[in-house]
Amino acid sequence: MSRISVHKLKEWKAEGRRFAMLTAYDYPSARLVEQAGVPVILVGDSLGSVVLGYESTVPVTMDDVVYHTRAVARATSRAIIVGDMPFMSYQASPDDAMRNAGRLLQEGGATAVKLEGGTHVVPLVRRMVECGIPVMGHLGLTPQSVNQFGGHRVQGRTPAAAARLINDARALEEAGAFAIVLETIPAPLARMVTERVTVPTIGIGAGPHCDGQVQVFHDLLGIYDDCRPLKHAKRYASLGETIRSAVREYIGEVEEGGFPTAAHSFEMDESTLAELVQAR
Ligand code: KIV
Repeated sequence: MSRISVHKLKEWKAEGRRFAMLTAYDYPSARLVEQAGVPVILVGDSLGSVVLGYESTVPVTMDDVVYHTRAVARATSRAIIVGDMPFMSYQASPDDAMRNAGRLLQEGGATAVKLEGGTHVVPLVRRMVECGIPVMGHLGLTPQSVNQFGGHRVQGRTPAAAARLINDARALEEAGAFAIVLETIPAPLARMVTERVTVPTIGIGAGPHCDGQVQVFHDLLGIYDDCRPLKHAKRYASLGETIRSAVREYIGEVEEGGFPTAAHSFEMDESTLAELVQAR
């Protein structure tokens, strides 16, 4: 089965067909996500927080994203795989940015890359697209700038900031981005952006009017169900509790001798056993 083309997403928008994007960071999660029918998998730099235990996405490196993207690519055959460009992989110089984006496709097996920012990344987006690298944009609360924003605050709340965001979206579209993530912005602003560009918008904390939605695997499945839920996330399962309770049951059975039983053990034929006992 061949991979969905990035151009399909624009067709879906034109048809009014909405779609889900979900993050995955390793072979088993990507396999499950694709089996469930998700058409776009993001190997997000959110892996820094949800997989590697960092406080933000800032410490994530190119090697981290390439490594995780490769595992996701191996597990899938149909979904579009978007490799997230981590902090400082595209900000320092355009040549570095091109090489790093190329690594995600060549070494990671990604279909496309995602990078954060508006007008200032437009020349880079144009160059990547011209060189055959599909690019997904990312506007609003761009987590790599969390230190600049002074925390995880809703973006685009003033008329000037909202107008800037609309211009950024148009500029990304014009540069050739095939989709744009809108993160943590007011729903009416997300609707305006969605109506003003022909490429799909993919929201997270941006309300119901985007063409697609994206969620983080661990948030969706309640793996960190001992932490306060995020306003923009919906838990469709409580896997944290499911996993803890399965592991507790295992510990209990090992301690009490309930596991393994004969069903989990390997037998030896009687004559070999008898010979062995005699020889000893
Ligand atoms: O890294 C990530 O998971 C993301 C999404 C939240 C859009 O950038």
